[in-house]
Amino acid sequence: MTDNPCRVTQRHYDYVAERTRGDDDFLKSLKAEAAKAGIPSIWISPAQASLMQIVLKLRGAKRVLEVGTLAGYSAIQMARALPADGMVTTIELEPKHADFAESWIAKSDVKGKVRVLRGKGADLLATMPAKSADACFLDADKDNYPVYLDHCTRILGKGGLVMADNAFAFGKLFADVPDDSGVHAVRRFNDIMAARKDIHGVIAPIGDGCWVGVLE
Ligand SMILES: C[S@@+](CC[C@H](N)C(=O)[O-])C[C@H]1O[C@@H](n2cnc3c(N)ncnc32)[C@H](O)[C@@H]1O
Repeated sequence: MTDNPCRVTQRHYDYVAERTRGDDDFLKSLKAEAAKAGIPSIWISPAQASLMQIVLKLRGAKRVLEVGTLAGYSAIQMARALPADGMVTTIELEPKHADFAESWIAKSDVKGKVRVLRGKGADLLATMPAKSADACFLDADKDNYPVYLDHCTRILGKGGLVMADNAFAFGKLFADVPDDSGVHAVRRFNDIMAARKDIHGVIAPIGDGCWVGVLE
């Protein structure tokens, strides 16, 4: 085991958050209204949004694919990192979430840069042509992450950016949770990512752990 002089604690997370761009009033309202509407508050953190925005900008991404829209928070954040002719295509299974996200995207500063597709991630990704996106962000049902990854490998092509949320399994990565299928699915996916010779990836210890990888 490599000695680790820098152990990430809650204090580190808070320190990072305090020094990272936070939500503007629009995003604060979106979250408050989503919670009132009974939508779970399981969006990515502002620090993770910043990380993803910076990586998207560095990649010069124009076309981004997301699986798991929820209230539209991460889609709006990613769209803000794209050029004026950029587009985030975000896939959502739950009609209530898709309705909410669409209504907030329509009144956001990135109206016209985000489109919501309704349905199952695997079904919709299967219809998308090769090399039709520059980056993808996986943030839906963990069991299907490997399926999403295979589709995204084709849809992105070489140089494509792969991001995936919850690499720390909702904080339970090392917990003894034999019946928690989501945690087991995350562990399997992390091992798949680590074994992929064609992806240069790393888990950024931000939020619940965010995979960032480039297809080589
Ligand atoms: C963690 S939330 C996404 C959070 C969002 N990316 C954000 O940070 O603002 C996961 C979402 O994936 C959706 N979902 C679950 N299974 C899905 C599937 N098979 N296909 C598409 N969306 C799915 C859920 O309904 C939920 O809205």
